[in-house]
Amino acid sequence: MKKIVVFTGAGVSAESGLGTFRDSDGLWENYRVEDVCTHEAWLRNPELCVEFYNARRRDTLAAQPNAAHLAITRLQQAYPTLEIITQNIDNLHERAGSKNITHLHGEITKLRSERDELATVELQGWEQHYGDRHPDGSLLRPYIVFFGEGVPYFSKACEIASTADIFIVIGTSLVVYPAASLLHYTKADAKIYVVDPGQPDLSGFNDVEHIKEKASVGVPMLVDRLLLNK
Ligand code: APR
Repeated sequence: MKKIVVFTGAGVSAESGLGTFRDSDGLWENYRVEDVCTHEAWLRNPELCVEFYNARRRDTLAAQPNAAHLAITRLQQAYPTLEIITQNIDNLHERAGSKNITHLHGEITKLRSERDELATVELQGWEQHYGDRHPDGSLLRPYIVFFGEGVPYFSKACEIASTADIFIVIGTSLVVYPAASLLHYTKADAKIYVVDPGQPDLSGFNDVEHIKEKASVGVPMLVDRLLLNK
């Protein structure tokens, strides 16, 4: 059985109502990364970071998986070894019923110890109260990989990418590293599909099929094709 790896970015959740980062009116047009998503920001104004991610958590919990998330689950049911690597902090792949998901940039439904990047706890509901502490005694912060911090699951993601016969990229501008470099870890003969209405940075990749559609249209279409040719 062919091994399929799906690599997603904010675009897969755009039609669920969660804004992307770099499209017009994206999150980073309305907030400054330096104010809410760096370690310095956390040290300077942790309350603002907590407030920003509380809002993201509220939006995530109110959102529903869309046709793209559901189509990926359908594909995984036919290819149980399928793995998902996501840059997204939302839980819409999980709520669509997908399994084997590696989150590169953290998970909004969890908090982590300030001391240990992998010591996470589940948060019930949308609201983190600033000042709450982890069982290890340190301050709890959102479980988000801030800009400038290491990406703890990146080497695991590279290993997963290197096993793919089919690598499907959905809704990412491919500008944030190291995540964007995952494509370079695929096998030379892996078949790469990209579903994105925009123009992600695919320089250096010749044999890529770019399906220039929104995720809710392009992903079900691609999944139908792959299932037909299984
Ligand atoms: N369907 C599919 N793709 C879409 C859709 C849609 N409906 N709408 C927009 N897109 C595409 C855009 O064309 C763009 O290529 O989604 C991509 C969004 O790019 P970014 O906003 O840069 O998001 P992403 O690549 O996921 O960002 C990477 O940056 O800020 C950090 O940590 C954050 O994980 C995030 C990382």
